[in-house]
Amino acid sequence: MTTNPLRITQEDARSAAADALIIGVTQGTDGPVPAPGAEDIDAALGNTLAATLSALGATGNQDELTKIPSAGRTAAPLIVAVGLGKEDQGGERARLESLRRAAGSAVRALNGGKTQSIALSLPAGDAAQTEAVALGALLGRYSFTRYRTTESNGTRTSNGTASTNSPSLTVLSAVAGTDNAARRAQALADAMILVRDLVNTSPSQLYPETFAAEAARVADSAGLTIEILDDQALADGGYGGITGVGQGSVHPPRLVRLAYQHPGASKTVVFAGKGITFDSGGLSLKPPKAMEAMKSDMGGAAAVLGALQAIATLKPEVNVVGYLPMAENMPGGRAQRPSDVITIFGGKTVEVLNTDAEGRLVLADALARSAQDTPDLIIDVATLTGAQLIALGPRIAGVMASDDELASAVSEVARQAGEQAWPMPLPEELRKGLDSTVADIANVAGERFGGMLVAGLFLKEFVPDGARWAHVDIAGPAFHEGEAYGYTPKGGTGAAVRMLVQVATDVADGRL
Ligand code: BES
Ligand code: MN
Ligand code: ZN
Repeated sequence: MTTNPLRITQEDARSAAADALIIGVTQGTDGPVPAPGAEDIDAALGNTLAATLSALGATGNQDELTKIPSAGRTAAPLIVAVGLGKEDQGGERARLESLRRAAGSAVRALNGGKTQSIALSLPAGDAAQTEAVALGALLGRYSFTRYRTTESNGTRTSNGTASTNSPSLTVLSAVAGTDNAARRAQALADAMILVRDLVNTSPSQLYPETFAAEAARVADSAGLTIEILDDQALADGGYGGITGVGQGSVHPPRLVRLAYQHPGASKTVVFAGKGITFDSGGLSLKPPKAMEAMKSDMGGAAAVLGALQAIATLKPEVNVVGYLPMAENMPGGRAQRPSDVITIFGGKTVEVLNTDAEGRLVLADALARSAQDTPDLIIDVATLTGAQLIALGPRIAGVMASDDELASAVSEVARQAGEQAWPMPLPEELRKGLDSTVADIANVAGERFGGMLVAGLFLKEFVPDGARWAHVDIAGPAFHEGEAYGYTPKGGTGAAVRMLVQVATDVADGRL
């Protein structure tokens, strides 16, 4: 659904031909201060910008929007000043996020109306800052209108679907040599938009078969190798986790394996993403409220797909394999029962005491299978536990790993990539809670405390011996239920894509 690609130029803000021109304003001690990139505009307005902003009540608070008609003094008829917060809050990483958010909220506010072209003259003083502005703008332009039958102004559309007439974007940069910044921003935005669309799609339309077909479409256009195991192949192949979770649904499960190969690569990374296209809980049925967001339970698999698409574009020198175990978790006459014993790929048995702890079952198959790829590093991403939201809130992913240093390193990579993540332990003493009276392990513990960590400990049992592995719980970050902010809309967010791409890049460059 991405329309016109983004342009990055060094042209001056005053003569930028666009319907709206976005500039930055920081929060100074004595009021709003026009940010670098706004000098031209200030000059065009006779150096009245600070006074005008102040008179209009602007403070420079992060994401605050102030509109100023230019009355012919600049090529763009409308100037939109967006707050960047305090000038020196935190380091470079905070500055990049501030730029992404500001660009995102300004573009989002102008989207869906009459504005057909937007230029951004935010303080983009180097390639990284230019990339941040570009990415924020592309993500802020996103909206999911597939199911709307009226335009945002309320008029009914002739063909039954609202148009996706989104404005063109031009980023004005202070520096030359931003081709790579543009390429990265576009690749990351395209991948995150793919994930948002997949997550937002009605689960009546996105189920394992159609999700796998979508993966095949992406693989085809990106040049990735793809292998799809259908329900019969999964049963024959001994994938008891995916088979067990999927058997209650009229939509049979799938396992998708994607591969990106670089001829110069010496290392292989495996990504595995939870792909539950709808999680009703199964026979351990969820209450209605808890089910409302459960179309997002494939956010991990979508993130792996998106990351592989971006990686195929950016071409880091590493091999990457992606596993997307897909199932719909439904109750019904064929559904697995609490107390059923299943056999995961590789032979370990699991007593399924709670059919709502299904993500760990499909991931167990994928993790065990990944031994065949002899990976140097395995990362799984999953909307795995409500306990992640209890522990870290809705925006911060929990990162657990085969050792605490790796958990810290992967969290750091995520933050470097602009995502919020925090390292979490896998305390051995919680493992005994998963002891089963009949099988090798149970899928839930009797104790409810530390649920995110217990889920991590369960997954650890299926990680190939000696492998470096990290588990990222994105139950909260994958789906945004509050009001849109910065470059994050309501609904699917695209969480974990940037982290995964950065992991691949860092492994390629020998940093991870
Ligand atoms: N998909 C859910 C986890 C979830 C909850 C994701 C809220 C996003 C928002 C997962 O399959 C689940 O149901 N987990 C259970 C595990 C429990 C039965 C041990 C949970 O967290 O309640
Ligand atoms: Mn569940
Ligand atoms: Zn789930």
